[in-house]
Amino acid sequence: MRAYVLEEFDRPPVFADVPAPEPGDDEALVRVEATSVNPYDNLVASGVYRDRLEHRFPAVFGRDVAGVVEAVGASVTRLAVGDPVFGFVKRDYIGNGTFAELVAVRSDHFVTHRPRGLALDEAGALGLASVTALQCLDFLELRPGATVFVNGATGGVGSFAVQLARASGLRVVATGRPGAEEEHVRGLGADAVVDWSAGDVAAAVLDASPGGVDGMVDLVSTREGLAETAGRVVVRGGRATTTRHDDPPTVEGVTLTMIHSVPEIALLERVAGFLDRGELGVPITHRFAFDELPLAFEKLREGAIGKIAVAGAGAR
Ligand SMILES: NC(=O)c1ccc[n+]([C@@H]2O[C@H](COP(=O)([O-])OP(=O)(O)OC[C@H]3O[C@@H](n4cnc5c(N)ncnc54)[C@H](OP(=O)(O)O)[C@@H]3O)[C@@H](O)[C@H]2O)c1
Repeated sequence: MRAYVLEEFDRPPVFADVPAPEPGDDEALVRVEATSVNPYDNLVASGVYRDRLEHRFPAVFGRDVAGVVEAVGASVTRLAVGDPVFGFVKRDYIGNGTFAELVAVRSDHFVTHRPRGLALDEAGALGLASVTALQCLDFLELRPGATVFVNGATGGVGSFAVQLARASGLRVVATGRPGAEEEHVRGLGADAVVDWSAGDVAAAVLDASPGGVDGMVDLVSTREGLAETAGRVVVRGGRATTTRHDDPPTVEGVTLTMIHSVPEIALLERVAGFLDRGELGVPITHRFAFDELPLAFEKLREGAIGKIAVAGAGAR
């Protein structure tokens, strides 16, 4: 099957023909009709996980998937051949990813049924970023009426976090530079927008929300920046999340945790519920063919608002 793979370290990924995966007893084989690029994929391609994760060369990478179940193992009951599904994969090695015509996934994890009415490219750009955003907000345990600051609101995870926060009745302070970024986050429902490029972001948040915010979803800060911003903007007793620092700094009066995305069916189904109720959209700003994956990565590196959709290698 056609795939985008890492053949070895210190070499850019290449398109190649590789053997198709065989679904195990408890696995479903999904034809990948749509996917997207995430910063994690960029990190994988750069080789930063070489000492931490086994790389099964030629390693198919890629996380997000939308497609159709093509075959199921003998013990699979939750999914059937022909089911339209979406989700994302998470493995403890690099390989068997979604930049390929077919991917094998455990049937009790990774994918669930695709909401009706959701376009294929939207479903392919949904999984990883939306579930991560939901997990961040869950950790904050905020009640309707509370205020949340989303730092990095213009990107994939942030764009979902802003919408999910609004749908949960929160007041949202979001980052965005003046112009297209500000319009984007206001369009998603942000109540106040702070321009992070203008300098002191914590001061701007306190201007927008005097007295501080009840929780913070941070998607972009350095470890030092995270400690400073959380310490200055989150109320004492409040909570904050990071998606970037395994060992987050200690901030007095603030519970700060690292969120690791998990492709649980229950979380994917909650995301689908927000979509079904019209409370969530998939903010795709760029679309690429599968053969254009290198261009999609270039776009991600140079900075793009919202999500970058990529057609799957298995698209018919
Ligand atoms: N732990 C996990 O399981 C997990 C899961 C998903 C994501 N992540 C991580 O979470 C982070 C966000 O992911 P993503 O998919 O949302 O990435 P993304 O789509 O690249 O979004 C990041 C956004 O933040 C903006 N930005 C850059 N510097 C900023 C700053 N100083 N202040 C405010 N905004 C800034 C970027 O603008 P420009 O594009 O103009 O630079 C971009 O719009 C990444 O580091 C990713 O690796 C972790």
